[in-house]
Amino acid sequence: MENHTKERLQDPTMQVPSLNCIDLADHDLHRSVVSLKQACLDSGFFYVINHGINEEFMEDVFEQSKKFFALPLEEKMKVLRNEKHRGYTPVLDEILDPENQVNGDHKEGYYIGIEVPKDDPDYDKPFYGPNPWPDSDVLPQWRETMEKYHQEALRVSKDIGRLLALALDLDANYFDTPEMLGKPIATMRLLHYQGVSDPSQGIYACGAHSDYGMMTLLATDGVMGLQICKDKNAKPQKWEYVPAIKGAYIVNLGDMLERWSNGFFKSTLHRVLGNGQERYSIPFFVEPNHECLVECLPTCKSESNVPKYPAIKCSAYLTQRYKETHAELSIYNQEI
Ligand code: OGA
Ligand code: NI
Repeated sequence: MENHTKERLQDPTMQVPSLNCIDLADHDLHRSVVSLKQACLDSGFFYVINHGINEEFMEDVFEQSKKFFALPLEEKMKVLRNEKHRGYTPVLDEILDPENQVNGDHKEGYYIGIEVPKDDPDYDKPFYGPNPWPDSDVLPQWRETMEKYHQEALRVSKDIGRLLALALDLDANYFDTPEMLGKPIATMRLLHYQGVSDPSQGIYACGAHSDYGMMTLLATDGVMGLQICKDKNAKPQKWEYVPAIKGAYIVNLGDMLERWSNGFFKSTLHRVLGNGQERYSIPFFVEPNHECLVECLPTCKSESNVPKYPAIKCSAYLTQRYKETHAELSIYNQEI
């Protein structure tokens, strides 16, 4: 695939990496685990097919997402992101690569997390809470569609989690406990990109970053834009486009899993370039429980390979990462 693509695309920046494709319905578990492990050691990026989410339903989720972003800004600001990281994030709110970006990302978004009501004992946790929802008279069935998608994507994440455990030589259900994916932090984000990026001017749809958490399941509308850089220290950096495959997730590992696995599994730098076409995507970010102590997994250390990173609580780690990349909420009080 790689050679063919290179011939067809003259521009060297248009190179496409060949990523492994994990079939969740494959009966040959060993084959899936070997392929997954290879992908995790290489770039931490892979495709997942036969995940059981119906394509028509997926289209419905994208349709609803488009309807939200098409609302007047005033309506969207009614559900502005709150301190629990839920709700609407306006264009330029987030800056993922401050060293190379002049402004924030040229995208708007909407975070939806695990719904926990105010009277629930878990309400105090930083990444649990009620979601703000757009008015159901304005967007009927919106909440139901998003809640259903959240549930389905979480199920797929747990399936991938079992394969990841096997790829790490752990028991298949290692991550299934309540401290980990049994009671996880899981946040989906609707994204809408517009405009043309120009790296020479520091203008990006989404600046270069690696994801914070354990893994991300990315669904896109098929419009090109996502690029990965397998070696962040290379000079110059080589960026390769990751094309969407219809019906497949693009899955990538985040920094928390890199850390957890003692650097064994990779969390790779990626970014999005806008080409003037509108682009919609929906990443689903998966992390273990708030209280989970992310410390070197038992199978990733030995006498000659001691833990490289200090243990850290999942919620503390995530809180820090969000703070580094999002604008202070108070700026919006002044503007409105
Ligand atoms: C992200 C991300 C890629 C995309 O939100 O972390 O990398 O294609 N998104 O939207
Ligand atoms: Ni990302």
